[in-house]
Amino acid sequence: MSTINLLVLGAHGQLGQAFNAVAGEFVAITLHCVGRELDITQPGLVSALLAKNQYDAVINCAAFTDVNAAEQKVASAQDAYALNHLAVASLAQTLKLQGGFLVHFSTDYVFDGNAHKPYTEHDTPHPINVYGQSKLKGEQAMLKSNPPGLVIRTSWLFSPFGKNFVTYLLNVGQQEQTHTQTLNIVSDQMGSPTSALDLARAVLQLLTQRAQTPHNQAWLTTQLLHFANAGQASWAQLASALVQQAQLNCTILPILTRQYDSPVKRPAYSVLNTQALQTLLNTPIRSWQDALQETLNWKSNAE
Ligand SMILES: NC(=O)c1ccc[n+]([C@@H]2O[C@H](COP(=O)([O-])OP(=O)(O)OC[C@H]3O[C@@H](n4cnc5c(N)ncnc54)[C@H](OP(=O)(O)O)[C@@H]3O)[C@@H](O)[C@H]2O)c1
Repeated sequence: MSTINLLVLGAHGQLGQAFNAVAGEFVAITLHCVGRELDITQPGLVSALLAKNQYDAVINCAAFTDVNAAEQKVASAQDAYALNHLAVASLAQTLKLQGGFLVHFSTDYVFDGNAHKPYTEHDTPHPINVYGQSKLKGEQAMLKSNPPGLVIRTSWLFSPFGKNFVTYLLNVGQQEQTHTQTLNIVSDQMGSPTSALDLARAVLQLLTQRAQTPHNQAWLTTQLLHFANAGQASWAQLASALVQQAQLNCTILPILTRQYDSPVKRPAYSVLNTQALQTLLNTPIRSWQDALQETLNWKSNAE
C-alpha cells in the first residue's frame, strides 16, 4: 500500500501525543504533527498549509478542554466557542472546498446524563455545561458542511501524556508519603473511561481501511461515531482500579457529586454505545481495565 499522509492539528495535547505514540504500529502511515503554532482559529493558516501539501486526511486534536474555566470565565467561554465551534466550522468548510478528509473529536458531554442506557449516535444531545455546548456546536457545524470525514465522540480520556485523571492520581499517589492518603472521589457519575492510545489506533485503522476502499460511499460524507473502551465506571471505581493496578498508597473514599465543590454541572451518566464503530472496525473494543494496564505499563517504561 502507498503511504498515507496525515496532518495532526493540536498535536501536543493528550490525544495528539497518543497519535504520535502509536503511528509506528501502522506501516503505511506517516504523521505530520503541528501544535499550537498552527492556530486553527486562523482559517487562512490551515487553508494555506493544505494548498501547499497533499494530506490524505486531517486529524483535528486541537480543542479548548478546560471545562471549569469555560463555565467560570467569560473570556474562556469565548475561547471555547472560538476553538470548539467556529474553528471547526471553518476547518470543515475548508476541507469541503479544497478537498480532503477531516477527523474531528467530540465528547460525551454533549449529553445531559439523564439516560439509563448507553447513548447511541441517534440519541438527542442536550449539553448541560458551556464546554459541552461549544463541542455540540462544533460537531453540528461539521455535519452541516458535511465534508468527507468522521466526528468521533469519546469520553473520559486517559493516557500516559499530559494532564488527565490517571496522570493526576499517579502524581498524587507516587509522592513521598509517610502514611496512606485518602482521596475523596465522586461515585455517582458513570462514564466510559477511554484510552487515548486505543482511540488513536482505532482512527488510524479506519484511515487505513479508507485507503484500501476509497470508493466506498461511506467515506464520502461526515459520519458520526462513538468510541470508548468497553465497560463503564464511576470516577471512584476508575480511581480504585488505578490504585490497585499501580499499587498506590492511597485509599479512595467515594463521595457524591453534591459533596464535591465544582462550578460545573456534569452528566450523571454518559456511557457511550460504540456498536456502530465496532461494526466498522470489524473488531471488538477492549475493556477500559486492560487499556488502563497498558497506560500504566507505558508510563512506568518511560520513567
Ligand atoms: N480529555 C478528555 O477527557 C476528553 C473527553 C471527551 C472528548 N475529548 C475531546 O478529545 C479531543 C482531544 O482532547 P485532549 O484531551 O487531547 O485535549 P488537550 O490535551 O487539551 O489538547 C488540546 C490541544 O489543542 C491545542 N490548542 C489550543 N488552542 C489551539 C489553537 N488555537 N490552535 C491549535 N491548537 C490549539 C492545545 O495547545 P496547548 O497545549 O498549547 O494548550 C492542546 O495541545 C478534544 O476534541 C476533546 O474535546 C476529550
